[in-house]
Amino acid sequence: MEQFKGQPRLPKFAVPKRYELRLKPDLTTCKFGGSVSVDLDIVADTQFIVLNAAELSVDAGSVSFTHRDSSKVFKPSKVEAFQEDGILVLEFGETLPIGPGVLAIGFEGILNDNMKGFYRSTYEHNGEKKNMAVTQFEPVDARRCFPCWDEPAWKATFKITLDGVPSELVALSNMPILEEKVDGHLKTVSYLESPIMSTYLVAVVIGLFDYVEDHTSDGVKVRVYCQVGKANQGKFALYVAVKTLELYKEYFAVPYSLPKLDMVAIPDFSAGAMENYGLVTYRETALLFDEQHSAAANKQRVATVVAHELAHQWFGNLVTMEWWTHLWLNEGFATWVSYLATDSLFPEWKIWTQFLDELTDGLKLDGLEESHPIEVEINHAAEVDEIFDAISYRKGASVIRMLQSYLGAEVFQRSLASYIKKHASSNAKTEDLWAALEEGSGEPVNKLMNSWTNQKGYPVISVKVKDQKLEFDQTQFYSSGSQGDGQWIVPITLCCDSYDVHKSFLLQSKSETLDIKEFLGCSVATGCGRASNKNNAVCSWIKVNVDQTGFYRVKYEEELAAALRNAIEKKHLSSTDRFGILDDSFALSMARQQSFASLLTLLSAYREELDYTVLSNLITISYKLARIAADAVPELLDLINQFFIGLLQYSAEKLGWQPKPGESHLDAMLRGDILTALAVFGHDQTIDEASRRFHAFLDDRNTPLLPPDIRKAAYVAVMQRASASNRSGYESLLRVYRETDLSQEKTRILGSLASCPDPNITLEVLNFLLTPEVRSQDAVFGLAVSSEGRETAWTWLKANWEYISKTWGSGFLITRFVSAIVSSFASFEKVKEIDEFFKAHPNPSITRTLKQSIERVQINAKWVESVKSEKNLADAVKELAYRKY
Ligand code: BES
Ligand code: ZN
Repeated sequence: MEQFKGQPRLPKFAVPKRYELRLKPDLTTCKFGGSVSVDLDIVADTQFIVLNAAELSVDAGSVSFTHRDSSKVFKPSKVEAFQEDGILVLEFGETLPIGPGVLAIGFEGILNDNMKGFYRSTYEHNGEKKNMAVTQFEPVDARRCFPCWDEPAWKATFKITLDGVPSELVALSNMPILEEKVDGHLKTVSYLESPIMSTYLVAVVIGLFDYVEDHTSDGVKVRVYCQVGKANQGKFALYVAVKTLELYKEYFAVPYSLPKLDMVAIPDFSAGAMENYGLVTYRETALLFDEQHSAAANKQRVATVVAHELAHQWFGNLVTMEWWTHLWLNEGFATWVSYLATDSLFPEWKIWTQFLDELTDGLKLDGLEESHPIEVEINHAAEVDEIFDAISYRKGASVIRMLQSYLGAEVFQRSLASYIKKHASSNAKTEDLWAALEEGSGEPVNKLMNSWTNQKGYPVISVKVKDQKLEFDQTQFYSSGSQGDGQWIVPITLCCDSYDVHKSFLLQSKSETLDIKEFLGCSVATGCGRASNKNNAVCSWIKVNVDQTGFYRVKYEEELAAALRNAIEKKHLSSTDRFGILDDSFALSMARQQSFASLLTLLSAYREELDYTVLSNLITISYKLARIAADAVPELLDLINQFFIGLLQYSAEKLGWQPKPGESHLDAMLRGDILTALAVFGHDQTIDEASRRFHAFLDDRNTPLLPPDIRKAAYVAVMQRASASNRSGYESLLRVYRETDLSQEKTRILGSLASCPDPNITLEVLNFLLTPEVRSQDAVFGLAVSSEGRETAWTWLKANWEYISKTWGSGFLITRFVSAIVSSFASFEKVKEIDEFFKAHPNPSITRTLKQSIERVQINAKWVESVKSEKNLADAVKELAYRKY
């Protein structure tokens, strides 16, 4: 039996075809019993059946295999569970006959509190605490609910029955109800048999819910289930779901494959949402929208999450990745498509500009030596959780966007539709997608894309002009400043002087030189800042990676960079290009290929910026720069903060505090981000005004003075002044937390509390996160500590590591504790200290994240060293901080 341990995948002795699953959960004792009968084909001579099971007690006496043709019953001589591998080995003592048969197993388990497998979530009803039973199986936890072949390629149909359900509760599964038999207080609910699907998509939810309902134009019944009394909050998601299902039906050229779609808000939920076939589960914050108290950002989150999960109903559920190595096919693709859907529903959100947040997060993680290729080798179930990361989601989505813009939207859609059709009800690998796109486009997609999905990292393209020639050179970009030896096939695009002159080529080697006249039809005179003039055909600026559709960075020689700064000030560039220039420059500065001062100078070109996405990234960058400055040049920190405050004045004045009637969604989101930033940078007027409005809010939760879009800003502002001797704002905020029943409000507050610069308060806040008042799904939101609080947070993490490991240790949330607290340090001593601590307290679920976080600390440390030794930085900062615009 030992031979089956430590294997990445189950042996192929038997192929499951159909599961008949009965579950009997007891919501009072939090235990469940169950039985499963699996129709399977024995396909190889074997005395063993090996499948997955974990934390279940299997009743060995109940296990039998019945050969279909002979009706002969085989009883196992040995039944053994290997817990670390999550496998169950049945040894039969004789060779099983090839061909179909039925495997029956009885088992018991507990409804756990870990938000995975078959688990318990809690809610209040009429002041009483109640339990609900919920499943979360992706990636590898169906095995915690019933013995099964728990790998995405073993697709089968599922016929599910729930026994012993309290008759007043709602009991949902993937398929519509076939029959409900009530017997006194309890009922048995059976569901229609599902189409063929993977185990990780099976789902059950049992609890008390209200719902709202609608249907698509072709009759799919759609419902949103939420806590009793909150049905109105489900209406927005319902609208998005109906529209999105209709859109995807057109886009994929295949209708939604089930008769119904239920979407349910679950009070305890570790991910954001889960695409279970026909029964999508969500965190409350990702599904519910309250007209009075939700912010524009909450609304956008609901729309994009719904669009993402519904994309999976095709991409993931109908066509499923063959193995976790191809997880990115699911997640990268769903992420990309969710933008397509959101853009079609809400064009005024300019969501494709906001897509650059995905791009930059992908680039950030992939700039680490501890990154991994999109297609990542998976050798053990325990490795899967950690790859639900920015590589699979964000780099994945970004390379899809790059390819789509290279191939063209129409060809791309047609090829996708044929991919879906070809692999429907089956599994696919990355190369299958490339094959479909290659066939549809006639382009060498496989060769092109392999360079992006099989190796980690990406290039930085250096651009130079010399003797009327344009030189392009690629080297692998690392944020550490090291140079890698990767090479890519890079779709290069460029514009010069105007968006009418748009050129592209594939960079297939290390470098390439192009004749400017031949290629662009003009000459280049950079640095002069001359406005475009087509008649004399002289370009004043060149922007490479137009619209930031490519997954790479660009490094311009100084003259070209100066011309772009000028073009930004003159407002000649699109918001996507303004975003890209700043973001690349920030990355190059971190990698010490560009000075801190020159980055600040570039920032000053954005003083009249008004685009939401550009400004919110500018703010994120400023936060990071302020932290590096605090370590490198503390004597300049006040001036640097003053400079950042100055940069935001223009937009802050344009937006004001009070929403304008009928203003845009983007302005509403922008106002919140700007005011938050002004508070963090210590802008006194902002903090005073925020306090005034916060007090009005304490008197009246519906005051027009504190609409939801600026609440987070006000909370952060209040926390900036909180201290041991000034606790009232902090305590009022805790009171609001306790009184609200809106999860988005709670999350906003948690995200503000730790921003307090007083370490004593930070410690109190961190301890609060571990109390029962904070659901374990939400604790990670409270880890956004101020730079003054980071040492306290690290000490706290070490002191509580045992408890944290135990509570969050078996899912991906634990990685957030490490990355949030560890990554903000910036010294080599800390690298050592962190490394030593985790060597002494190892935890396999954070292996990858820990290495990445330590690398970040190293990068910060090097950056701090270099900023320290930067000559003339003080002069540059003074000049910028005192400059009057
Ligand atoms: N399939 C995932 C849910 C998931 C995540 C399962 C991690 C297991 C581990 C789902 O489709 C998803 O991607 N959810 C996202 C939200 C989405 C809008 C990016 C999430 O949970 O954050
Ligand atoms: Zn997803």
